[in-house]
Amino acid sequence: MDEYDGAADVGDADPAVLAARLDGADPLSPLADRYHVPEDVVYMDGNSLGPASDDALASLDRVVDEWRDLLIAGWTDADPPWFTVGERLGDALAPLVGADPSEVAVGNSITVNIHTLVGTFLDELLAGKGPEREGVAVTGGEWPTAEDGGAVPAVLVNELDFPSDHYAIRAQLRGRGIDPDEKLRVVPSRDGRTIDPRDIEAALERHDDIGIVWMPTALYRSGQLFDVERITEAAHEAGAYVGFDAAHSVGAVPHDFDEAGVDFATWCTYKYLNAGPGSIGALYVAERHHGLTPALAGWWGHEKATQFEMNMTYTPAASAGAWQIGTPPLFAAAPLEGSIELLRDAGIDRLRAKSLALTDFLIALVDERLPEVSVGTPREHAARGGHVALEHSDAEQLSAALRDRGVIVDFRPPNVVRVCPAAPYTSFADVLEVVDEVEAILDGGAHEEYATSEGGVT
Ligand SMILES: Cc1ncc(COP(=O)(O)O)c(C=O)c1O
Repeated sequence: MDEYDGAADVGDADPAVLAARLDGADPLSPLADRYHVPEDVVYMDGNSLGPASDDALASLDRVVDEWRDLLIAGWTDADPPWFTVGERLGDALAPLVGADPSEVAVGNSITVNIHTLVGTFLDELLAGKGPEREGVAVTGGEWPTAEDGGAVPAVLVNELDFPSDHYAIRAQLRGRGIDPDEKLRVVPSRDGRTIDPRDIEAALERHDDIGIVWMPTALYRSGQLFDVERITEAAHEAGAYVGFDAAHSVGAVPHDFDEAGVDFATWCTYKYLNAGPGSIGALYVAERHHGLTPALAGWWGHEKATQFEMNMTYTPAASAGAWQIGTPPLFAAAPLEGSIELLRDAGIDRLRAKSLALTDFLIALVDERLPEVSVGTPREHAARGGHVALEHSDAEQLSAALRDRGVIVDFRPPNVVRVCPAAPYTSFADVLEVVDEVEAILDGGAHEEYATSEGGVT
């Protein structure tokens, strides 16, 4: 968008003047007043935990009051009732991922959602169902079951995934008697930072047993943004389901899961959605899959109209709400209502435009002023998520030194300082301050006073 033009042109201007011009023209700058970031802090860790906002605290306070005043009646008489919180917040999230409201629900956590979603689709494959596979002998669009001589389905992941994803998928394979050492197929990284989409496609060509492709929308360390449409198309051409871990993009990058044809996805609400520590997870299941029995079934995923009839037979809700499991943690869901409204007012396209301008500005300043630091995040906008990975051999000490100076970033082994200038509450002046501090620390050797913690997170 025009108001952010020139953010990368740091060579031609005094960066402080450029930052002031960009901040002055930024239509989103008033939003920062609604977030709580201490005066003496430059907060660049919203990709781990977003800050509180007035709006999120207000919706949380409302539910606390409802608990005090209504007690058990809050499930039905609160306004809106707690009973349908999973569906209602799913409706509010749907536009951020390009989905019909029925396709999104909040519930559980990312890891639990991976267990139930991957488990559900493994069960489908093992029952002989699944997308039609080109070049594979299928009858009536169905996978042959292992008993009929068909392949035991494998799950395709990548080497740079968040570890919890692999733990969960391995467990789901193991639970079905499938050896994860054989059937968790891992796309390698060529450079240790990114995954080349051609390597995902090559794996799909090489192996005819891949039943599920599970990829992140953005990598947690380097911030590489994946091409959801391209991966979905490749997976479907190979007859595989495709699911995404969208933790590092929802709220920062617009998605169109329906348009792309994604089968399922999950993400958290504590990063770019700013709903608080341990806030409730979210999930997407394409409408064509509604009605399946979730692998981890529970009463909160039961058809709502008859949930309280307490039948022993489980009838899944005819929506993504079926993948909820148990009673939703209201206090871990309530802040999301306010925080989504705030983001919706800003508009996800405008937030993305500002985020790209902020990371353009950061990358340009690093190139210009920090020769000993490399940028591990792709430079093309289409492959860049919401944060920038700064690589340095003393990244852990640098991260600790920055935090001591009030610049809150985080370290990810082996050599990455993640800097996340999140659009709703970060200014261009903040970005300049980060680079000033890094330069001062490295020039003066202040980071050398800090010990490393051998692989720990600082
Ligand atoms: C990309 C990614 N996937 C999965 C997880 C695990 O999420 P949870 O602890 O909510 O299950 C995280 C947590 O930060 C993450 O960043």
